[in-house]
Amino acid sequence: MTNWDDLAAHRRGAEGRRIEALFEAEPDRAARRSTRACGMLLDWSKTALDDRAVALLLDLAAGVPARREAMFAGERVNETEERAALHTALRRPADAGPLPVDGRDVMPAIRETLQRMRRFADRVRGGGIAGQGGAYTDVVNIGIGGSDLGPAMAVRALSPYHDGPRVHFISNVDGADAHDTLRGLDPERTLVIVASKTFTTAETMTNAATVRDWMARVVSRPADQFAAVSSALDKTAEFGIDPARVFGFEDWVGGRYSVWGPIGLPVMLAIGPDRFDEFLAGGAAMDAHFRAAPLAGNMPVMLALVGIWHHQICRYPTRAVLPYEQRLLRLPAYLQQLEMESNGKRVAMDGSDLPRPSGPIVWGEPGTNGQHAFYQLIHQGTDVVPCEFMVGAAGHEPELAHHHELLVANCLAQSQALMRGRSLQDARAMMEKRGLTGAELERQARHRVFPGNRPSTTLVYPLLTPFTLGAIVALYEHRVFVEGVILGINSFDQWGVELGKELALELAPLLDGKPAEGQDGSTLRLAEAMAAMRRAVEG
Ligand code: F6P
Repeated sequence: MTNWDDLAAHRRGAEGRRIEALFEAEPDRAARRSTRACGMLLDWSKTALDDRAVALLLDLAAGVPARREAMFAGERVNETEERAALHTALRRPADAGPLPVDGRDVMPAIRETLQRMRRFADRVRGGGIAGQGGAYTDVVNIGIGGSDLGPAMAVRALSPYHDGPRVHFISNVDGADAHDTLRGLDPERTLVIVASKTFTTAETMTNAATVRDWMARVVSRPADQFAAVSSALDKTAEFGIDPARVFGFEDWVGGRYSVWGPIGLPVMLAIGPDRFDEFLAGGAAMDAHFRAAPLAGNMPVMLALVGIWHHQICRYPTRAVLPYEQRLLRLPAYLQQLEMESNGKRVAMDGSDLPRPSGPIVWGEPGTNGQHAFYQLIHQGTDVVPCEFMVGAAGHEPELAHHHELLVANCLAQSQALMRGRSLQDARAMMEKRGLTGAELERQARHRVFPGNRPSTTLVYPLLTPFTLGAIVALYEHRVFVEGVILGINSFDQWGVELGKELALELAPLLDGKPAEGQDGSTLRLAEAMAAMRRAVEG
């Protein structure tokens, strides 16, 4: 029997056992089944994990330390692209020693780029670098995927720290995105950052050209109001961006792991270089914890093991990320890319078919809004959705402390309700109190039953500071890595996004009415129908 079989057998053996019963059997369960790191507490006691399950899961993670050290050391852990995955180098503390990759210390270049970013950000924020109409009031970041989601998420998350220009994001090739973002902006006082690792991504290059045209109508030298973040310095030069305003990064920083370096420039412009350093320090603190803490007390490892248990053993197909923190509005979208682009793979590192499910579907929305939308299914639907709650002990608005109390109470109430549920007996008693009797009482009571025994984790932190945000993001990065190692997946490539991109290029002429060969009937019919609709719309 493998550990996987043992785990599955263990779960079958414990069928019918309730999470609440585990608390009765283990009086110190909440303390034993929780993990502290970087000032945060991750409670995973409201899951079905017991000693045996934890021991078996930890065995599965036995290979993690070696892979982890290989990653931190810059070995080529991204085997299909033959590269290191060294985003952790971007947040390495200033006093950390050299980090040789292929015989060359990568730290001097990282530090020099960070210094250049600092100088640039300070001068933009201070007005020393200005647009044709004066100091910049607005920054527009053009990028998509990892060149958008990280900074967009972080800028929003850290809004209490904003003391720089307003920052906007254009990502979608839908012209509505550029149009609506640019509306109301002054081209003479807008700085544009084109963020693209490859500088070939169709959406970003299309948006960049559109924004340049928008600016050129008013600004005599639009290129002077552009900066770029890219690994393709030849292409940024071709676009006409002054090399002094181009911030490069190496190909061993994956897009979805890149917010720590130049892709984080919009964050630095918004909150300033010192606060950005705190964000990096939070990530570095989580790195130090991940490397030093024993597996059983290791926050990313335990979060990963909970994930493996729910998806691989319990076969719950999705997991929900539910921040009770409105400013983490974009965190679920950010984590969707981080988790699903990293571990949504059907073959193992060696190319063989994965013998088990790939990483799970991740989704979510901040509480309390989600409560009034999809929590119905979470509580009473037939699918079990493990929930990952997160909430700060305090908010940034002391004058609105009563809001925060309600927020926290709601977060705790949801995880408790999921675990406890409501029995038929209690539902009947409720209906009786309302004066119902007989068949009507029975019918109404059944609708009010909550099965309960639904698992969740809760991450609590003092306050959503730049440091804490950095720690949370690094926590999830490492969680994804650990899950990938256990599944034997390469978490650092993303071949699954390629086919659609290629086909979009082939299909573009068809939509212009050009004949297309080799298309399927459905696609042809859709294109024809839309051509007719478009003619009607455009008159
Ligand atoms: O399409 C997926 C992807 O390659 C992501 O991995 C990446 O974050 C995004 O596109 C953007 O790529 P680039 O930064 O090269 O424009």
